[in-house]
Amino acid sequence: MDLGIAGRKAIVCASSRGLGFACAKALAEAHCEVVINGRNEEKLAAAAAELKKATGAKVIPVTADVASPEGQKALFAACPEPDILVNNNAGPPFRDFRELDRQKMLDGVIANMVVAIELIQKAIDPMIARKFGRIVNITSGSVKMPLAGLDLSSGARAGLTAFLAGVARSVAASNVTINFVLPGTFETDRFRSNIEMTAKKKSISYDAAFAERVATVPAKRIGQPDELGTMCAFLCSAQAGYITGQNILIDGGAFQGAF
Ligand SMILES: NC(=O)c1ccc[n+]([C@@H]2O[C@H](COP(=O)([O-])OP(=O)(O)OC[C@H]3O[C@@H](n4cnc5c(N)ncnc54)[C@H](OP(=O)(O)O)[C@@H]3O)[C@@H](O)[C@H]2O)c1
Repeated sequence: MDLGIAGRKAIVCASSRGLGFACAKALAEAHCEVVINGRNEEKLAAAAAELKKATGAKVIPVTADVASPEGQKALFAACPEPDILVNNNAGPPFRDFRELDRQKMLDGVIANMVVAIELIQKAIDPMIARKFGRIVNITSGSVKMPLAGLDLSSGARAGLTAFLAGVARSVAASNVTINFVLPGTFETDRFRSNIEMTAKKKSISYDAAFAERVATVPAKRIGQPDELGTMCAFLCSAQAGYITGQNILIDGGAFQGAF
């Protein structure tokens, strides 16, 4: 399927690995120019080389912390007027909510809510002027099905979702859409370190902890990042202009609800 976005410029935040990388790859395959980002310069350069080789697309690596004002400035210096913005960032670590002091809570809200809003503020007016804009926010299945211990992540991301629900409607007439992809369990570095942690805590092997997690998913497998990347690219497509303000769960059926 031709997504109708060849030549469009995209910023994909936090994309040297994992789900962000998969989104960047799917957009590069659709012949977009893609800015990719991460804090580790070496890993980012390797990711950019891999993407260029695999897709032939123009890929611009920007080493920066997406949460910092300087990092955001660097992203927009590389691509001042993106047609596509994919918001992604690391999630807060697993923690009992009693351990969260005020500063930790504020940091979590900044990382998983404020940063995405700041980037949208920077990107949206030129999108409106050009009558084309696609914004996709990677949040989490925990927005719909919160998990104890990931309370800050669930809360900040639910806040982002509600905040942008109104914004999405206010820009829809300009062919600017804002949607959310909600990952369940995907095989990324973050997932692998979670499984290692569980295995250690329960004194079981990595494989046993992996099998326990797989058993909780109706699809009886873990998601592959490219499955999320292609959904993200579709939401960025010309054809998806009538889809906005939506939360798309990609979780192998883990959320047990009809709606
Ligand atoms: N994987 C899952 O199953 C799953 C499920 C639900 C929700 N999620 C959420 O989806 C998001 C992505 O997860 P993932 O599994 O793809 O993570 P990952 O494999 O750990 O990859 C994270 C990526 O983000 C970059 N990054 C992290 N912090 C950054 C920062 N401050 N500035 C710029 N780049 C940054 C990392 O590069 P550097 O370290 O070099 O900066 C890396 O490229 C997270 O918010 C996660 O909570 C994931």
